[in-house]
Amino acid sequence: MRLRSGVAVDLGTVNSLVHVRGRGVVLDEPSTIALYRHTDQPPLVGERAEELMRKEPVDIDVLHPLREGVITELDAAATMLQTFLRRARFRTSVLGPRAVICVPSGASFIERRALVAAASFHRPRLAVRLLDEPVAAAIGAGAEPQGTDGVLIVDVGGGTTEAAIVLGAHMVRVHSLRVGGNAMDEAIVQAVKAELGLHIGLRAAEHLKKSLGLTGGASGSAQVAGIDLARGTVREEQVRGPLVASALEHVVAPIIESVQELLWEMPPDLADGVIRRKVQLAGGGALLPGLASRLRDSTGVTTVVVEKPLRAVVRGAATMLEHHYELLPPM
Ligand SMILES: Nc1ncnc2c1ncn2[C@@H]1O[C@H](COP(=O)(O)OP(=O)(O)OP(=O)(O)O)[C@@H](O)[C@H]1O
Ligand SMILES: [Mg+2]
Repeated sequence: MRLRSGVAVDLGTVNSLVHVRGRGVVLDEPSTIALYRHTDQPPLVGERAEELMRKEPVDIDVLHPLREGVITELDAAATMLQTFLRRARFRTSVLGPRAVICVPSGASFIERRALVAAASFHRPRLAVRLLDEPVAAAIGAGAEPQGTDGVLIVDVGGGTTEAAIVLGAHMVRVHSLRVGGNAMDEAIVQAVKAELGLHIGLRAAEHLKKSLGLTGGASGSAQVAGIDLARGTVREEQVRGPLVASALEHVVAPIIESVQELLWEMPPDLADGVIRRKVQLAGGGALLPGLASRLRDSTGVTTVVVEKPLRAVVRGAATMLEHHYELLPPM
């Protein structure tokens, strides 16, 4: 082990990623925990909990301890995070161990404290610094932590969407929406129910979102199974692209609007750099078919999906941990 150990964490609503100093991203798992209801068996965490959730066992509670990017179940979140740190084989060194944990920019002081508490649980010597997710995403997309050019970053996650103008390691303007990929899945469930009389699960809705998105994908339709609401029987249905696109509109329209507003509010001196660097699209939602071109058409600014958009935030946090830790203020 190095003299000083360090860890960078993106504890997302849907996915958690852990980077350990000197070893890179060593863990990428769903932010899910399963608790046994009647026994004191240890909980299942991450991939194992997610597997179990699909089977819906009656004696187990499956939780997502974060909602809309912030911790809503402190004990469960602390257990999940500590399990991930152990699984990533992160050990606190004798010399001041460090952690950089990402947090949505809209998180309150109490929500931030909850995150620090979850990370320091059983690790009192760990020095935890919080990093706003839009800054992490911008640095993960290649911006310099001490750079002087503005970057417009849009991070569409599972529970939140954050659009921000970032300058170095600072946010200049930010718009935070508590909707993202999960809200898209829910909108598709509702639309399929209303239009086709079919009750589908969130997993099927996510499949429709990824394969059809705003454009209808390559084939223009996709098959899902669900429960026929009139007959109570299982039915398969070919769902067409326009149904999914119009359901997604409820979530995509506010995202586009918040980017447009951000451009209005942009300090004029940063305009040049922002336009040169293009709109950078990160988070899992960046992969939604048609979102980048829709953003480009509505804003008039070229939009690019950053490399491995699901990893942009943890990449940026890792850069701060390894090279610019002192730029981050203590909580
Ligand atoms: N190809 C794709 N098309 C559309 N959406 C996708 C695709 N791949 C992943 N997603 C969605 O991305 C979301 C997860 O993204 P991400 O891991 O960035 O979120 P998170 O960081 O956990 O959440 P948050 O930042 O809101 O706390 C999920 O809703 C998932 O369905
Ligand atoms: Mg995220």
